[in-house]
Amino acid sequence: MIWLVLLLLISLCFFLIQVKSQRPKNFPPGPTALPLLGNVLCLCSDNPLAALERLRRTYGNVYSLYIGPRAAVVVSGTQALREALVTKGVDFAGRPQDMFVNEVNEKRGVILADYGQKWKEHRRFALMTMRNFGMGKQSMEQRILGELQYTIDHLEKNAGKVLSPQTMFHTVASNVICQVLFNKRYEHHEEFMITLVNSFCEITKIINGPWAFLYDSFHWVRHLPLPFNKAFEALKRLKNMTIPVINEHKKSRVPGEPRDFVDCYLDELDKRGTDSSFCINELLMNCLVLHAAGTDTTSNTLLCGFLFLMSKPHIQERCQQEIDQVLEGKDYVVFEDRHKMPYVQAVNHEVQRVAKTVPLSVFHATTKDTELMGYSIPKGTLIIPNLSSALSEEGQWKFPHEFNPENFLNDKGEFVKPDAFMPFSAGPRLCLGEGLARMELFLILVTLLRKFRFIWPEDAGEPDYELVFGITMTPKPYNMKVEIR
Ligand code: HEM
Ligand SMILES: *[C@@H]1O[C@H](CO)[C@@H](O)[C@H](O)[C@H]1NC(C)=O
Ligand SMILES: *[C@@H]1O[C@H](CO)[C@@H](O)[C@H](O)[C@H]1NC(C)=O
Repeated sequence: MIWLVLLLLISLCFFLIQVKSQRPKNFPPGPTALPLLGNVLCLCSDNPLAALERLRRTYGNVYSLYIGPRAAVVVSGTQALREALVTKGVDFAGRPQDMFVNEVNEKRGVILADYGQKWKEHRRFALMTMRNFGMGKQSMEQRILGELQYTIDHLEKNAGKVLSPQTMFHTVASNVICQVLFNKRYEHHEEFMITLVNSFCEITKIINGPWAFLYDSFHWVRHLPLPFNKAFEALKRLKNMTIPVINEHKKSRVPGEPRDFVDCYLDELDKRGTDSSFCINELLMNCLVLHAAGTDTTSNTLLCGFLFLMSKPHIQERCQQEIDQVLEGKDYVVFEDRHKMPYVQAVNHEVQRVAKTVPLSVFHATTKDTELMGYSIPKGTLIIPNLSSALSEEGQWKFPHEFNPENFLNDKGEFVKPDAFMPFSAGPRLCLGEGLARMELFLILVTLLRKFRFIWPEDAGEPDYELVFGITMTPKPYNMKVEIR
């Protein structure tokens, strides 16, 4: 914190010798920005989220902010979000470059790639591969159900006891991705998994923290030996441990008979040759970013879901009734069964709505000069889509501020999905793992609710629904009691 104060003081000196920064013509309104510092000071308050909500109330659903010298536009509400992400999707499909997260990704990987050929090719490839085109004999469904068996065993062993679900959900989510990428699973106490979890945690903590914010705001701090360098070391560790896995694949693969994502990518490399956007380093980074994108998101959504299911036992029981009815006489659930389970579907979506898992999406950037809700936005402007604002927007939901599956049910008890539901974002940058994530959430929820009853422990006090803010929102740690049904 002393560093932060010091840096702010230095920046203030710059302020005295610089002229006031100017907003471009017809740019969305926002608080007065100091030169160089931008609006950093108003974000350094005790509660930056409350500060931002105040700005939205003052300036509307499209307002601007300066993060250091960088202009950013915060977009809130279903209407403005839809216009930016869908109607003008391509204009808004870029990613800001030259930010901390890009550096930590070495400018590789589909998530942060700017709008262009490399991103398009890799996105198409990843989507095709994950849709099961030729990725071994096992379907995605079987991979998920297979992994889930380990969770079931763990819960059966702990029946009647109180346990902490954090590691359990994290292990499922992580192993589903490992199955897809490497055709391999890991125990959570294995060296590989421990290093993986710790390194990702370290990077996430720094990305969420003030040091990354400083890095993005002021160019000149980048070469200082500040704590954000720990993220680069963690990345080195992650790469170092993934390289042997890829090399092992190179040795054991049969070209044309891929077992997993890595094999598919190696086939693609054979096909395309070296003169394309496909290369080994890109493969390495994509393995890491897919794992990062698919693990904390899924596991935190599950954590949030089970928190609500335990504290609202009548909702849990109603799900179980529907599940028992639809699955009577069947060994296991398949994804197709969701159409026969409107109530479970509604609960599953309501969990995603209140979990606000990725509240500010991944930041976008404009790919050309464009307009939004009548304002002009120049090419290259940082765009912050506030997805969570749509998920609790008044006027869009029957019960915007409470956990209530009725938000997704019509008068006839049928499942409906309002337009404001965009936890995976929308448009050209829509979450690439949406299909996988939805399948995971449904299969896991149904399988576990069918076999077990989840109970809020008697001595645990009142459940705390408040989420800890970050790139992914995290429920506070809690314990659950499990009984076999
Ligand atoms: C509940 C689970 C998940 C949620 C809520 C979620 C949400 C999101 C959101 C909001 C974005 C940003 C979209 C945008 O920029 O507009 C995103 C991007 C992405 N997600 Fe997910 N995600 C989830 C699970 C997954 C999984 C399981 C995978 C993995 C395989 C995955 C892979 C990706 C990738 C690769 C991108 C970048 C797409 C691109 O830039 O073209 N996500 N996700
Ligand atoms: C990289 O991995 C090897 C073993 O695979 C290990 O000996 C080495 O110390 C690791 N290097 C770093 C920087 O982690
Ligand atoms: C996003 O919207 C939510 C709900 O309206 C609000 O609490 C939050 O402060 C907003 N975040 C930003 C960055 O505007």
